[in-house]
Amino acid sequence: MIPREIIEEIKYRCDISDVIGQYVNLKRAGSNLVGLCPFHNERTPSFTVFLSNGSFYCFGCGAGGDVITFMMKMDGYTYIEAVEALAKRCGVAIPKETSGKYRKPDEVSRDRVLAMNLDAAKFFREQLKANQAPMDYLLNRRYSPALIRRFGLGYAPNDFGALTGHMLGLGYNAKELSTAFLCGISKKTGKPYDYFRGRIIIPIIDTKKDVIAFGGRVIDNSLPKYLNTSDTPAFKKSRSLFALNYAKASCAEEMILCEGYMDVMALHDAGFTNAVATLGTAITNEHARMMKRYTKKVLIAFDVDEAGQRAADKAFRLFDEVGLEARVVRVRDAKDPDEYIHKFGPERFRMLLNEGSSRFDFQTENILKQYDINDPQQKIAALREITSVIASVYSSVERDMYMHKISEQLSVQYESLKNDVRNVVRRNRKKADENETNRIHLAAAGFGGRNMREKLNTLTSSSSEEAVLGMLLRYPEFAELVRSGKVSLDSDDFSTELGKRLYELIIEKCSGGEKPENLLNEFFSPDEIGLITGIAVSREKLTNTEAIFRDCVSNLKNRKEGEDSGDASSISDINDLINRKRQDIENNREE
Ligand code: GTP
Ligand code: MN
Repeated sequence: MIPREIIEEIKYRCDISDVIGQYVNLKRAGSNLVGLCPFHNERTPSFTVFLSNGSFYCFGCGAGGDVITFMMKMDGYTYIEAVEALAKRCGVAIPKETSGKYRKPDEVSRDRVLAMNLDAAKFFREQLKANQAPMDYLLNRRYSPALIRRFGLGYAPNDFGALTGHMLGLGYNAKELSTAFLCGISKKTGKPYDYFRGRIIIPIIDTKKDVIAFGGRVIDNSLPKYLNTSDTPAFKKSRSLFALNYAKASCAEEMILCEGYMDVMALHDAGFTNAVATLGTAITNEHARMMKRYTKKVLIAFDVDEAGQRAADKAFRLFDEVGLEARVVRVRDAKDPDEYIHKFGPERFRMLLNEGSSRFDFQTENILKQYDINDPQQKIAALREITSVIASVYSSVERDMYMHKISEQLSVQYESLKNDVRNVVRRNRKKADENETNRIHLAAAGFGGRNMREKLNTLTSSSSEEAVLGMLLRYPEFAELVRSGKVSLDSDDFSTELGKRLYELIIEKCSGGEKPENLLNEFFSPDEIGLITGIAVSREKLTNTEAIFRDCVSNLKNRKEGEDSGDASSISDINDLINRKRQDIENNREE
């Protein structure tokens, strides 16, 4: 375990607004900072950083905690990794003997995986130099030697033991290698064997210049065409982009998003150094949010086939959700950007980029392709689809522009189109409101997730439970009342498992004067810390005197007795609580 003083020192030196500010655009709001939550999609900021105590909380999704929790959630770090990363950032040294001990003995760390990847990348690169066939393959596809060097391409020999033998020789063990997806373990013999065989190797390098994963392409027509590293302690494919390490220098205005590694490399070779691709998966909403941090506008340059066009449709929706401008590039007379650029050259591709279509044009063109608008029935069907496309546009000015355009293009009355669109907009809005109400109800009753059911079962006591916990968290003098026996309270008085654990932490682990919020990361998961932060934050808005504390404690005890004797919580109690919570949530939003 890392000494508490060190944790406190790190938290003191790593200003939470600086750390979070690297990921979220924060603005001042009173004594706090607010911004768009990086953990869910939203258009109005409900993500709040409290400077007074170095915590954050999102009133929309309930994520919360301190700067360490933030790093765990944002970068997928374990507790120890988050502390180490922050320690490095602010120059605090963690005593050696403590840092290794905390980890479970068979857990492979992120750093260890990165070290293995680097050694493997070097090995693959040497193999490419030594083998003519893969080099010929690349040169045949017109990838330049400079590009091959720049991207650190390599080759995995067609051999079951080449890399594994090399890596075992460097002191890595089979378990570590298989965690990094560099080898598989044979079911029959239990022995490790090379995962990538007979493939061109494309290292995936992140913006910190670490090799986080590999893609491997066959050099003939065998299948599967690609093998990719699956998620490891150092790699999450849903939030990684190929070539972002290079693109980040030139993508502030525009970023080109492709489907394939080969497309990206061909584009970089031709001077379009702002190209990236997802890694063998469809684009996710995490990708979209990440791209928004790097660029103002995305040019979607996917394959021409139907799958590519469907993927473009999805990408548009995701970019729209995060408020990132996007255009689709219509590649013609070639199957993908790679083929296009080798066939027609960079200038022609530049022109394609400039002609990119908006989401609206792209979708209406796709709809109109499927119908014969000279046939009245088909025209109506097409219009119905187009109406719903227009209705899905967020800005009313934009909607109006599109309605004018379509009424002209398809010769329909502007007014009747407007009516239809308005009806669909209303219907959608009503649906969205219902969903939002549901979400708030769930969040209010149990904050969702695993604690939800437990909480619903014990709803009547949960408001006093949270009041007591909130006051104990924020006011050490109340915890002292309990410790000294002046107020009688016991972990059995709490109804939820989370409540019991939190109570024990505050009363027992903080008896030496430590602040509970500095210990949370050691004993609770990031999701639980979100709930706990929510409890503390909502308590801050209320009056917290000793009399109220005593009142809430006796309430908690009474309620608990009622429950134990089988007194079920009534619907009106539930509604009461939900209404109060909604009020809280709304009040907090207004701040
Ligand atoms: P080339 O066919 O060599 O031009 O490759 P490409 O990069 O253009 O790939 P393609 O358009 O066929 O596929 C796009 C991306 O999907 C690839 O870059 C891979 O990331 C992924 N992909 C394609 N085929 C496979 C496969 O068989 N398995 C996995 N896991 N991913 C694949
Ligand atoms: Mn291709």
